[in-house]
Amino acid sequence: MKDLITEEYVCEIAVGILEKEWSEIEKKLEAAKGFAKIIHVDIADGKMVPNTSFMDPKPFEKYAKDFDLELHMMVENPIQYIKPFAAAGFKRFVGHVEKMPSIDEFIAEGQLYGEVGLALDKGTSVNSLNFNFEDVDCMTVMTIQAGFSGQQFMEDQLQKVKDIHQQSMIPVEVDGGVKDTNIMFAKNAGAVRFVATSFIWGSENPAEAYKKLTDIISPQ
Ligand code: DX5
Ligand code: ZN
Repeated sequence: MKDLITEEYVCEIAVGILEKEWSEIEKKLEAAKGFAKIIHVDIADGKMVPNTSFMDPKPFEKYAKDFDLELHMMVENPIQYIKPFAAAGFKRFVGHVEKMPSIDEFIAEGQLYGEVGLALDKGTSVNSLNFNFEDVDCMTVMTIQAGFSGQQFMEDQLQKVKDIHQQSMIPVEVDGGVKDTNIMFAKNAGAVRFVATSFIWGSENPAEAYKKLTDIISPQ
């Protein structure tokens, strides 16, 4: 999201949810209604990463008006999930370049249904990519190996945020291990969207944890 006056991207927290059961997801969505705007829903198919998640888009429908729903697809061939999740109200579709038969086709499909983003897992360099940055709405740099919540933030991955910005000023999201003690490293590297899952949900007061991160990244 751009600031109307400065024309710069506003820094935002995306609240992550990675769960196997709808009941757990729903509890978090209900709790997040009080504080969050962007929900980053992780799906995992057990093939791209050694983890699985709840995969049915349908029940999210009822929350599409409450949040901006972003889908992070840790799956093989992510293009197939765009249409069904769009039908449930998702607005942003982020797929891993490592598991796409065709990046161009993924981008074209995503553009039909909302915003499209490409995610780079640990081990994938920006230079290895062959696509036009102007065709995507955002990039996601993993600051962990994709798959599980609760891992340690890898600061060395932030070089990729800088590498992307050498080629484009596209908004960059960081995902993995984000917390109060490292979020400024990501912001200083140029990221503008910050996914936080365990920092929020592992806290006794998720709304306060969210506010803590927001206060750190938002200029006073
Ligand atoms: C796992 C997911 C992340 C995860 C982040 O790779 O893509 O979005 O939920 O969880 P934390 O914030 O706990 O590292
Ligand atoms: Zn994610």
